[in-house]
Amino acid sequence: MRSWYAVIGDPIEHSMSPLMHNAWMAEENRDASYIPVHVLPENLEQSVVALKTLGCSGWNITIPHKEKIIPYLDELDESAQKMGAVNTVVKQLDGTYKGYNTDGLGFVRSLEKEVGNGHRNKRVLVIGAGGAARGIAFALVATGYTHITIANRTVSKAKVICAELDIEAKAISLNEAAEQLEQFEILVQTTSAGLNNSEFTLPFSMKQLSTTAIVADIVYNPLMTPFLKEAKKKGATVVTGLGMFIHQGALAYSYWTGTYPKAEVVSDLLLEQLGGN
Ligand code: ATR
Repeated sequence: MRSWYAVIGDPIEHSMSPLMHNAWMAEENRDASYIPVHVLPENLEQSVVALKTLGCSGWNITIPHKEKIIPYLDELDESAQKMGAVNTVVKQLDGTYKGYNTDGLGFVRSLEKEVGNGHRNKRVLVIGAGGAARGIAFALVATGYTHITIANRTVSKAKVICAELDIEAKAISLNEAAEQLEQFEILVQTTSAGLNNSEFTLPFSMKQLSTTAIVADIVYNPLMTPFLKEAKKKGATVVTGLGMFIHQGALAYSYWTGTYPKAEVVSDLLLEQLGGN
């Protein structure tokens, strides 16, 4: 029987997940399809019941349902448990549905595809302490990164994440991060600073950035964020957020099908979709 997958969110029309997953399914000649479903917050529970009843093989979850969906799932993977958020649901062999979170590991996969895995002992600065930063910090530690500092406007939130990590990590303010920037070899920008304004303000000054730093942003629209542009001017190696988007999807796809799909099958398609940014 034809398998079907979905992505649920509100709004949903701009999601590039259907394009990406359908391209992978077509490439592998799978008898499967992936559809966007607009789910309003007040309809989340009913929608999950409907997806289960109709036998959906698995689905992705985007804003604003990643946390609220948890009570409606049968089981949670450790990745989702630690993050308190789910971005992927998998139908298991016994017909129950299990939640995962592939965002953090998707970031680490993308980073290592770009710059290799020889940087795990480098000093990493995660900027921001929201859901995305939490997932990335956990995934970095799980992958073997040993030096992590989290800088956030609200330092107490960074402290909470640091206390939950299995390694000793440091929480600092954005001002402290700006002053000490030179010592960090990998920077990961996860804040939503300026995302909704046309006037983008950097979360902090990049004056002290090392010219040999690796600088990543999780935002992929625009591809070259003001943060990455500034880093590039300084001579740093930049990693855009598109790779994280692709690899969080690739991990979800691999949980559903058992095959890890090729990033290069979709990267041009997605770049075209983002066209001009
Ligand atoms: P996400 O789930 O995408 O990580 P979030 O949980 O809302 O989103 O987190 C947003 C992050 O961006 C937080 O670290 C937030 O800082 P605070 O914890 O102090 O709120 C950060 N952020 C948002 N706007 C910012 C701004 N103008 N300057 C600096 N940091 C900002």
